[in-house]
Amino acid sequence: MLIKHADDIRSSEITPERAYVNRRQFMQAAGAALAAAAGALAPESPLVTVAGAQAAISGVRKGPFGTTEKWNSFDDITHYNNFYEFGVDKTDPSRYGGSLKTKPWTVAVEGHVNRPATYHLEDLVKPHALEERVYRLRCVEAWSMVIPWIGFPLADFVKRVEPTSKAKYIEFTTLLRPSEMPGQRRSVLDWPYTEGLRLDEAMSPLTILAVGLYGKTLMNQNGAPIRLVVPWKYGFKSIKSIVRIRFVEKQPATAWNNATPGEYGFYSNVNPDVDHPRWSQQTERRIGEFFRRKTLMFNGYGDQVASLYAGMDLKKSY
Ligand code: MTE
Repeated sequence: MLIKHADDIRSSEITPERAYVNRRQFMQAAGAALAAAAGALAPESPLVTVAGAQAAISGVRKGPFGTTEKWNSFDDITHYNNFYEFGVDKTDPSRYGGSLKTKPWTVAVEGHVNRPATYHLEDLVKPHALEERVYRLRCVEAWSMVIPWIGFPLADFVKRVEPTSKAKYIEFTTLLRPSEMPGQRRSVLDWPYTEGLRLDEAMSPLTILAVGLYGKTLMNQNGAPIRLVVPWKYGFKSIKSIVRIRFVEKQPATAWNNATPGEYGFYSNVNPDVDHPRWSQQTERRIGEFFRRKTLMFNGYGDQVASLYAGMDLKKSY
């Protein structure tokens, strides 16, 4: 990211944990919100509309791979963001994200698949059982958070659209709409933001498409209405506000790799042994904590994903 130093975060930018909600309180609150919204319930949709608020999400089961570490507060997760489409400061996405209209929303599926289609968000999400996945997110800027996402395995969606044998990678693209995304009026990155995964990375049971967090639909600053979450990779791989998923034969270009190839590789696996050219990746600061922690290889998800990279030199393929 375009920052001077990994730890160059003013203390005033760090939101105190004002709004930490423990799990039981949260479940009670979510239940109450759900009951209050009963009149507005769309029975076929898991995304329950509540006027003037984030919608509570119904029917979420507990998913696998969750960490038992303390969740970051809702306040931290929604006010300390990277979403350059709204500006480069951590508070810009929460300040300016409100201008983005996420209804209606479509996602185009293109390329080497038997079932190319443009999905309305509801149709994309409806067939999938939604899970809560509490994952660590490790940003390339050497900070981290623990976030209770709600989503479903990307693999399940990929199977639905039936990739052909030519599909080796997936390219994801964020919405391009400068009228609602003020950061896109400046050429900080080559818009629209794009990211990519190898097909086997996309099929990992860890990789999810997220539609919510903390029991509610995503706020715009977190990538509403649908984003990727790839917890063993630096946060910038987890592309927000996706409008296109394209199955391709060759490794796709990605926004950060285009901008600064020597700093941001295609793989971008969390790796304490490969420094960023401008700072070390050996430690990280968990938002809300004072002391730094050691960064774990693959962000601690090595048991699930190390085999994907057997035989590769991860210092070269950074
Ligand atoms: N997706 C888009 N479209 N634009 C961005 O600027 N920033 C990335 C990633 N996805 C980004 C994006 C980075 S650098 C990080 S660390 C995560 O989003 C942050 O996600 P969060 O704000 O929900 O914690």
